[in-house]
Amino acid sequence: MDKRALVPRPETEWTAELAIRAAQAAGSEPRVLDVGTGSGCIALAAACEVPGSRVWATDISGDALELARENADRLGIRNVAFFQGDLYGAVPREIAGGFDVIVSNPPYVTSAEYEELQPEVRDYEPAGALLARDSGMEFQKRVIEGAPEWLRPGGTLIMEGSPSQIPSLAESYGAEVVRDLQGLPRCLLLRRIEASLHPSGLTARTLCDYILEEQQLLKREGGEP
Ligand SMILES: C[S@@+](CC[C@H](N)C(=O)[O-])C[C@H]1O[C@@H](n2cnc3c(N)ncnc32)[C@H](O)[C@@H]1O
Repeated sequence: MDKRALVPRPETEWTAELAIRAAQAAGSEPRVLDVGTGSGCIALAAACEVPGSRVWATDISGDALELARENADRLGIRNVAFFQGDLYGAVPREIAGGFDVIVSNPPYVTSAEYEELQPEVRDYEPAGALLARDSGMEFQKRVIEGAPEWLRPGGTLIMEGSPSQIPSLAESYGAEVVRDLQGLPRCLLLRRIEASLHPSGLTARTLCDYILEEQQLLKREGGEP
């Protein structure tokens, strides 16, 4: 680890564990996408722990990706592909609708919180790995709202956030909250439902499809998604 990426936090081990479990439950050759991979900690854990898995990892930061690639090489992990770009924009289009698991720990610190961070965090870690607009939820909302297009029906989104944000995001999107090992609301979980079940009502499982359909409807009507 060095200044090129966020130092992985202990709570992210739990996020990686959830991604591993979801990938293991998905079948023999699960496809996993890690959005905002940083050092690659989540992507590499999934690639290593789930035999047969294929993992895609994206980040907007070239420095972070360079470090993640070095970490993959050092660990001898070959089943991860790295892409640079803005969230899902970095992922090759032909895999749209094909991921069994999407996992993300996007930036979520507000500018006010950033000013209050300890100097060793503010001065050592890249601001782009921490800061987000819209009360810190800018990237989180984009990760959730973009997920239906990239998940296969039945696929799962796991997103890490701060315990002050996850409950309200979960309520807004009808997601399930997963508590961390300290009992704090740390991740939210959404599942894209099988197409045949939609639109039977809105639950944590149906919401991803609902968002996707709403976006397509808006596009057809000439509005902005
Ligand atoms: C909180 S860090 C998480 C890093 C790593 N996944 C972890 O859990 O330790 C967020 C990561 O998202 C990346 N990021 C920020 N904005 C992004 C964007 N628009 N598209 C893709 N990645 C982005 C940052 O460079 C950073 O590596």
